[in-house]
Amino acid sequence: MQSYRLVGGEPPDRQPSGNGAHSGVANAPTPPPTQPTPPIPPTIHPQSAPVGAEVLRVEGVVKEYKVGGGNVVTALRSVNLVVREGEFIAIRGRSGAGKTTLLNLIAGLDNPTHGRITLFGRDLATLNDAQRTTIRRTEIGFMFQAAHLLPTLTARENVGLLLRLAKADPAEREQRAHEALALVGLATREQHRAPELSGGEQQRVAIARALAHAPRLVLADEPTGNLDSHTGLAILELMRNVAHVAGIAFIITSHDPLASQMADRVYDISDGVLTPGVA
Ligand SMILES: Nc1ncnc2c1ncn2[C@@H]1O[C@H](COP(=O)(O)OP(=O)(O)OP(=O)(O)O)[C@@H](O)[C@H]1O
Ligand SMILES: [Mg+2]
Repeated sequence: MQSYRLVGGEPPDRQPSGNGAHSGVANAPTPPPTQPTPPIPPTIHPQSAPVGAEVLRVEGVVKEYKVGGGNVVTALRSVNLVVREGEFIAIRGRSGAGKTTLLNLIAGLDNPTHGRITLFGRDLATLNDAQRTTIRRTEIGFMFQAAHLLPTLTARENVGLLLRLAKADPAEREQRAHEALALVGLATREQHRAPELSGGEQQRVAIARALAHAPRLVLADEPTGNLDSHTGLAILELMRNVAHVAGIAFIITSHDPLASQMADRVYDISDGVLTPGVA
């Protein structure tokens, strides 16, 4: 499993302000050459495979669903896609185009009818259910349109929940949950329960939850679908930042034009056909 650690101090809203309206770097005295300027906001350092290694290869993938009356729905048609660490990929398409089907196949939750999916160098077809579950728990982070936080748990407990299910050491779990929340700028909201957070904050907790186990790939299905455009943009920027700084690959689906603008690469999907798009 990839290991990364968070560095830096407080989230942006806790950074000490400088003189006047501008804070921090611009007004600070030039640091001595031996002391690098601390990163603002807190960020993370990759400590494993070099950025740019291939994490996913989808080759000629077709997905057919058998439905009533002997009919077949073809949800994906000869889909090809290669994704590398640190890439922020957006897939846009109308309802029913095949976006969720593709993410489900990449996550090994379902099997392609034809074609091959290679995840972290392993052909998914060769893995049994237990091996796929292990990959999902250790190497993939998930985000959805709704944050799906448990309302009775605090932000920190929500973020640590999957680590708890994975039987992570409690101290490590606490630390990772804390770091992931700091990464998304929510260190001051750790003890809030979901109903005590705004929609954007809840989705930031969902990002933290997706990142807490240090995945190599995050699959996000319409992560900004419930947010206003301003909040959605902030969430997209945050995810892109994490992708670039931590070397984690993100594949997001979205109807949101802003997602295409933020992405390193954009694809269009229409009636199961995936094609490179223009931002
Ligand atoms: N389990 C299933 N059985 C039969 N058909 C399915 C199944 N899941 C999806 N489909 C069909 O496959 C096509 C693609 O569905 P998918 O859920 O991938 O679309 P989507 O792009 O995610 O749409 P949305 O934006 O509404 O979430 C649709 O025509 C859908 O009806
Ligand atoms: Mg969908």
